[in-house]
Amino acid sequence: MYLTDEEKEILNGSRGEAPQLAMEILNKIGEINEAERLIPIQSVHLVLHAYKSAFDAGVEAAEKIAGMGGEFVVPTTIDPYGMDAEDWKGAKTPEHYAQMQIRLENAVMKMGVLPVWTCTPYYGFNAPRFGDNLAWSESSAVAYANTVIGARTNRQTAIVDICCGILGKTPETGMHLKENRYGEVLIRLEAHRPLSSWEYPALGYLLGKKLGSRIGVVQGMQGEPRHEDLKSLCAASAASGSVTLLHIVGVTPEARTLEEAFGPNKPAEEYVVTLEDLAALREDISTNKDDKVDFVALGCPHYTINEMVRVDELLKGRKVHPDTAFWIYANSYAIDLAEKMGIRKSLEEAGVVIRAETCMIISPVAPWGFKTMMTDSGKCSYYGPAECGTDIIFAGVEECVEAAVSGRLSK
Ligand code: F3S
Repeated sequence: MYLTDEEKEILNGSRGEAPQLAMEILNKIGEINEAERLIPIQSVHLVLHAYKSAFDAGVEAAEKIAGMGGEFVVPTTIDPYGMDAEDWKGAKTPEHYAQMQIRLENAVMKMGVLPVWTCTPYYGFNAPRFGDNLAWSESSAVAYANTVIGARTNRQTAIVDICCGILGKTPETGMHLKENRYGEVLIRLEAHRPLSSWEYPALGYLLGKKLGSRIGVVQGMQGEPRHEDLKSLCAASAASGSVTLLHIVGVTPEARTLEEAFGPNKPAEEYVVTLEDLAALREDISTNKDDKVDFVALGCPHYTINEMVRVDELLKGRKVHPDTAFWIYANSYAIDLAEKMGIRKSLEEAGVVIRAETCMIISPVAPWGFKTMMTDSGKCSYYGPAECGTDIIFAGVEECVEAAVSGRLSK
């Protein structure tokens, strides 16, 4: 891989230990992936964010790099906090876990992370433009940035993302190159109407299973999907598969037409997806044994203020059932707006708990002993059984709210 004189000097230690280590790692990653050079990036999004997934080794690695003088030179945001940022004790977070989470927080703060703990950085300070090169790690955010914004990022991994932040560069491989961004597989969506809210994550889930890491081109999307619909679709596709980029013809910026989406490629395969397929998928991924619902979890990816307002409207002043926990996960931007608008107060008076800057998958939920989790998220449905130890009911937000009020699935 070609290194500039300045990069060679960094490799020889001219800027200190942490940039030297970062350059060694990115140089190796670039060589393995046959990159020709490093390119500047506009921002980084980290996934070394939660003790639940970082473990002791991750915390110690972050502390070590921070101790070596690691400092981010481009805006660097981070995935959700590993426990409720406002009330980790009330969330039954084990003491040792909390101490390790705080150590991890201190290490990344020392390196200069922007403490917006969220998987939706694109709704806040870290909002890319079309064509920007990024080094992001969170899979749902990577799929969103590539698909919805037309920014360019590979699916980075923990530590490599830190190295990118320290150098403000990444190897020019994969999604950074236009020739790698054309469609490979054609998906004919046979829907005579716009999808309903749960059908977007269901479609994402199905696409992830069919595509793996290939780039799908979806033809036939009706109507105008909202940002939130695309957020949940991208997240599910990146969870059940390893999708980094989808082209939705007429919706995503590099797919104004079918021809533009495929460029010089011919579709290697074609699939037809019908509304019946989405309904069948929903049945398949719901694993509940009966109709009792003891946990309703919304906000994977983090709920926006629009989604919180919608839940408040659906509740219509009713209370959550006393035997059901109803938690909404959101970042500080959305929570701040909810407070200013009186939505948080209204939700909390109904019995909803706002879990701040964390999520059901990367914080310890097991101490609550929930048996069945109901969610409107395809990504949460995918990871929930393993990470939370619960059965899953996947449904639309309307049904989630009704179940939270009655404590049961409606027939
Ligand atoms: Fe975000 Fe956690 Fe879901 S990080 S995408 S809310 S698994």
